[in-house]
Amino acid sequence: MTGELRVEHLSVEYVKRPRLGHKEERRHIAVNDVSFALPSGGTLGIVGESGCGKTTLGHAVLQMTPVSRGRILWDGTDLTELRGAALRPFRRQMQLVFQDPFEAMNPRMTVDRIVSEPLHLAFGMARSARRYKAAELLQQVGLDETVLSRYPRQLSGGQRQRVALARALATEPRLLVLDEPTSGLDASLQARTLNLLRDLQADKGFSTLFISHDLSAVSYVAHRTLVLFGGHMMEQGPTATLIRGPAHPYTAALLAAVPVPAQGRATTSAQNAIPRAGQFASTGCIYCPWCNQAQSRCHLDAPIATALGGEHLVACHYPLPGKP
Ligand SMILES: Nc1ncnc2c1ncn2[C@@H]1O[C@H](COP(=O)(O)OP(=O)(O)OP(=O)(O)O)[C@@H](O)[C@H]1O
Ligand code: SF4
Ligand SMILES: [Mg+2]
Repeated sequence: MTGELRVEHLSVEYVKRPRLGHKEERRHIAVNDVSFALPSGGTLGIVGESGCGKTTLGHAVLQMTPVSRGRILWDGTDLTELRGAALRPFRRQMQLVFQDPFEAMNPRMTVDRIVSEPLHLAFGMARSARRYKAAELLQQVGLDETVLSRYPRQLSGGQRQRVALARALATEPRLLVLDEPTSGLDASLQARTLNLLRDLQADKGFSTLFISHDLSAVSYVAHRTLVLFGGHMMEQGPTATLIRGPAHPYTAALLAAVPVPAQGRATTSAQNAIPRAGQFASTGCIYCPWCNQAQSRCHLDAPIATALGGEHLVACHYPLPGKP
């Protein structure tokens, strides 16, 4: 078993109830025809603004959200074709650390139970062995066993994030989906969490989907990066290539919005461009209304992902000149 993930032409559509006084259901394509590959032991950063579909994409990969179209291949097995018991062994190999770990934790469970529950469910481990293993998992994420008897409300944000990570590691996953693992943490805790993730990955060899709106965090941990806008893939490739010379105007705008310590946070079109479903043009490039490079063709033709060389893909008619 290699633990390779391939996502092919994945789309996820949400159907919302009709508004008061309306009959028709509302449909929103949260992820639209997204493809990528994540080799075993690698980290793919999924980056984009709030609402662009990052969490939906992560949940779809884990089969927590129904997929409308496309395939999710894990070691060659298409997970979208499996149901119920057939999916169970794969679920154990793939774990999620939720965007808000506090909401995902049962407030009436102690840390001991939160971390050891998967050990019981996945391996049928006995109570005494579970407590021992839970303490070991906590130690791996930098917490000591005194937190075992605490409840989630008695933990700091950073401690909750680590408890969530310890729980996710309990089943010895081959793939971790980390949804905004550093949001809500202060700068020094963010750095410590990113270092911890890198060390754990080097030690255990799992693959990671690292979801974040923070390009600087992504650039620190991800070998490859995929940029999402309005559910569409704008650009993907080796992280260093994207950072050094973004080819898509949206990636360039996101990079320009990365905070510069001496000047505070720059404001850019990217920050002002949080799109809502109704704002997207029905034809042409989805980023057109916000793009400072747009030309007449962009209003008519939707660009398709095109290889710029190596594994660098961009969905833009007029990519920016990259830097070698
Ligand atoms: N269960 C749902 N039902 C209907 N629409 C949904 C549902 N979950 C998400 N959406 C919509 O799908 C789009 C993508 O949401 P998603 O949570 O994946 O974005 P995100 O990139 O993770 O955002 P954030 O950075 O704020 O976490 C948004 O427009 C959101 O309103
Ligand atoms: S296709 Fe046109 S509008 Fe879209 S990102 Fe490229 S230049 Fe901008
Ligand atoms: Mg999200």
